[in-house]
Amino acid sequence: MDFQLVQIVALLMVIAFRGTGWTIEACSSNELEALMSFKNGIQKDTSGRLAKWVGQSCCKWEGIVCDNATSRVTQINLPGFISTDTDLFQSQMKGLISPSITLLTSIEIIDLGGLVGLSGTIPQTIGLHLPKLQKLYLYGNNLSGPIPESIGELPNLQELALQENRLSGSIPMSLGSLKSLKRFLLYSNQFSGILPVSLGNLTNLLELDVHDNALTGNIPSSVGEMQALKKLDLSNNLLSGKIPFSLTNLTVISVLYLNNNHLEGTIPFPSRSGEMSSLGFLRLHDNILVGNIPYNFGYLLSLQRVSLSNNKLEGALPSNLGNLVSLTELYLSSNFLSDQIPKSIGQLSQLILFNISRNLIEGPLPQEMSSLQNLQTLDLSFNRLNLSSIPKWIANMSSLSNIYFAGCGIQGQIPEFFQTTNSPIQVLDLSVNLLSGSIPSWIGSLNQLYMLNLSRNFLYSDIPDSFKSLQDLGVLDLHSNRLTGSIALVFDIEHGILGGSLKFIDLSDNNFSSGIEEIGGGQCDIQLLNLSHNLLQGRLPNSIGRLNSLNILDLSFNELGSNLPEVLANLTSLERLKLQENHFTGKIPYGFLKLLKLKELNLSNNHLEGEIPEGKPLTDFPESSYSGNKGLCGKPLSPCKL
Ligand SMILES: *[C@@H]1O[C@H](CO)[C@@H](O)[C@H](O)[C@H]1NC(C)=O
Ligand SMILES: *[C@@H]1O[C@H](CO)[C@@H](O)[C@H](O)[C@H]1NC(C)=O
Ligand SMILES: *[C@@H]1O[C@H](CO)[C@@H](O)[C@H](O)[C@H]1NC(C)=O
Ligand SMILES: *[C@@H]1O[C@H](CO)[C@@H](O)[C@H](O)[C@H]1NC(C)=O
Ligand SMILES: *[C@@H]1O[C@H](CO)[C@@H](O)[C@H](O)[C@H]1NC(C)=O
Ligand SMILES: *[C@@H]1O[C@H](CO)[C@@H](O)[C@H](O)[C@H]1NC(C)=O
Ligand SMILES: *[C@@H]1O[C@H](CO)[C@@H](O)[C@H](O)[C@H]1NC(C)=O
Ligand SMILES: *[C@@H]1O[C@H](CO)[C@@H](O)[C@H](O)[C@H]1NC(C)=O
Ligand SMILES: *[C@@H]1O[C@H](CO)[C@@H](O)[C@H](O)[C@H]1NC(C)=O
Ligand SMILES: *[C@@H]1O[C@H](CO)[C@@H](O)[C@H](O)[C@H]1NC(C)=O
Ligand SMILES: *[C@@H]1O[C@H](CO)[C@@H](O)[C@H](O)[C@H]1NC(C)=O
Ligand SMILES: *[C@@H]1O[C@H](CO)[C@@H](O)[C@H](O)[C@H]1NC(C)=O
Repeated sequence: MDFQLVQIVALLMVIAFRGTGWTIEACSSNELEALMSFKNGIQKDTSGRLAKWVGQSCCKWEGIVCDNATSRVTQINLPGFISTDTDLFQSQMKGLISPSITLLTSIEIIDLGGLVGLSGTIPQTIGLHLPKLQKLYLYGNNLSGPIPESIGELPNLQELALQENRLSGSIPMSLGSLKSLKRFLLYSNQFSGILPVSLGNLTNLLELDVHDNALTGNIPSSVGEMQALKKLDLSNNLLSGKIPFSLTNLTVISVLYLNNNHLEGTIPFPSRSGEMSSLGFLRLHDNILVGNIPYNFGYLLSLQRVSLSNNKLEGALPSNLGNLVSLTELYLSSNFLSDQIPKSIGQLSQLILFNISRNLIEGPLPQEMSSLQNLQTLDLSFNRLNLSSIPKWIANMSSLSNIYFAGCGIQGQIPEFFQTTNSPIQVLDLSVNLLSGSIPSWIGSLNQLYMLNLSRNFLYSDIPDSFKSLQDLGVLDLHSNRLTGSIALVFDIEHGILGGSLKFIDLSDNNFSSGIEEIGGGQCDIQLLNLSHNLLQGRLPNSIGRLNSLNILDLSFNELGSNLPEVLANLTSLERLKLQENHFTGKIPYGFLKLLKLKELNLSNNHLEGEIPEGKPLTDFPESSYSGNKGLCGKPLSPCKL
């Protein structure tokens, strides 16, 4: 009874719709065919959406939107990333994109982005039949071939998102006709050739991102005509020549990424104050830019984040740097910048990070820097600062927590005032200086310290007992000093030790002599342990087997003896094991055959004997991994005598 009623109602509805000429269910036979061809091109759809495309009522199919009045298909919405009220998941389609989609002549939106496995080419005729197309999303697929020249015939196209495919060829000149285009994303493809001059016609474009391709030639000066541009990313290409002067006409640009190119030449903008007044993000790093940072750079008043690292820039920083009061991050490392840091830097009250490492900057540091009350990270490493001593006012920078002063010519004792600073010090890198005296025990009171690097100085003392309170220490690098005494403290968890967060310990090239018996007592998360080139004596304890996160263990050049403990075979994450130049005796444990990740092994110059366990990875190492022992034999050395 119910069943019959349903049938009758359905029939009446069909008649009603036919009667008004208004059906929301069926689409034209042309469009039905186009959608079926698309479906037939797809071999696999993990979302199951296409499997439900059955019957004639294609306007009701999942992912299809029709115009109510005409029943023409206006949208295909089948993105790979699906979010429902309760769920978020990534689906995939595998198969060829059918050229039949160009039969959907009323379509406005095609969203087939992020389906991972959609392959084939963008249909040649896409521009000829889709006059209403506004959004074309094909990003995150496996498409190859060029962008068809016909793309320029889509007068309503606003968004073209083709990034993250395997598209190639050059960017078609015809793109310049896409007057409505707002976002143009081609990054992470294999495009080559030049940036077409016609890009300058795209006066409504807000975002142009072509990074990570193989584009060559100059940046066309017409780029300056894209008056609405907010974000420009040309990084990771093979672009050359100078940055065109007319870029200065981009008065509303807020993001400019030109990094990782082969751009050469100087930074020519802005030519006068007031230009590029909205430029917020400027990334030119990893190029081969030469010349000075121009004085007018100080007129880019909206700049917030700037990276000019890894170029060949030279000369002094512009003296009006302090104009850039919105700056929060300034990366200038690895150039040939010289002279002193200008006093005006003290005006950059929003500055959070300043990295000018690896330049030719000279001292002294301007005291005005002490007013950088928001500065958290300061990297001055490897310049010509020759500071002799760290200026006292550094302790007045109340946010400073990551201090990188490597290779700054600092002499004398580690200054006390780090102890009194208000800021929570998390990183203290004073490596490659001329520091002498002892490691002060107040370092143990820096209770947020994560990294301590005092390597390559002339420090002579024990590791102070107070280090036990460094609960957050993750990286401890004290290599190449004249430190003595015991290393036990670093491992001894019983007595309140170092929190257990240590991942990286380099105490090599010192004169430590005792404490090896505590190894493995505490943390089990250590990934690198380098104790080489010390005077360590005794035997390896079985507790070393607990360090099962170790990737690198270097105990070479010590005076360690006795047998290699069988538990070393528990360290199955080991990639490098260096035990050469000690006094180890006995056989190589058979369990070493379990160390399948081992890429480097050195047991040379010990007193080991017996057969090298036969099998991978042990037999793959060169002879010099085993040479200079008392009586080792078997592959790769000569066969054992029976
Ligand atoms: C089309 O019809 C659906 C369902 O009746 C309705 O939700 C939608 O708002 C209509 N769209 C337009 C543009 O009229
Ligand atoms: C991408 O397409 C190529 C052939 O064009 C095919 O070999 C490869 O398996 C495809 N990759 C994916 C993820 O579908
Ligand atoms: C686009 O730009 C080119 C070169 O700048 C110019 O010759 C051409 O007339 C422009 N085309 C349109 C449609 O504006
Ligand atoms: C840039 O602006 C100047 C005037 O401010 C104008 O003369 C010049 O033609 C513009 N350049 C471009 C490429 O638009
Ligand atoms: C500063 O820049 C250099 C080189 O680009 C980099 O290696 C270093 O990690 C940076 N320092 C900080 C604190 O980010
Ligand atoms: C570094 O500074 C010290 C003391 O200020 C001075 O004696 C020394 O000559 C300087 N070294 C260099 C290389 O400039
Ligand atoms: C640090 O700040 C305090 C208080 O603001 C001030 O008295 C002192 O002179 C400053 N020290 C240095 C070295 O600038
Ligand atoms: C400590 O500083 C030295 C010299 O500057 C550097 O080579 C080393 O990588 C640093 N250690 C860590 C763990 O970053
Ligand atoms: C370590 O001690 C030895 C003497 O035991 C001494 O000859 C050597 O110079 C010291 N090494 C360092 C780096 O201080
Ligand atoms: C351990 O330290 C020594 C001396 O500082 C160094 O030569 C060696 O390369 C380091 N070992 C590893 C595996 O990094
Ligand atoms: C080494 O591994 C064996 C078996 O996986 C386990 O029984 C033993 O406790 C481990 N030894 C150490 C010292 O962690
Ligand atoms: C092992 O160490 C010895 C001595 O330090 C060295 O001569 C040899 O080249 C090293 N062999 C390998 C494979 O690292």
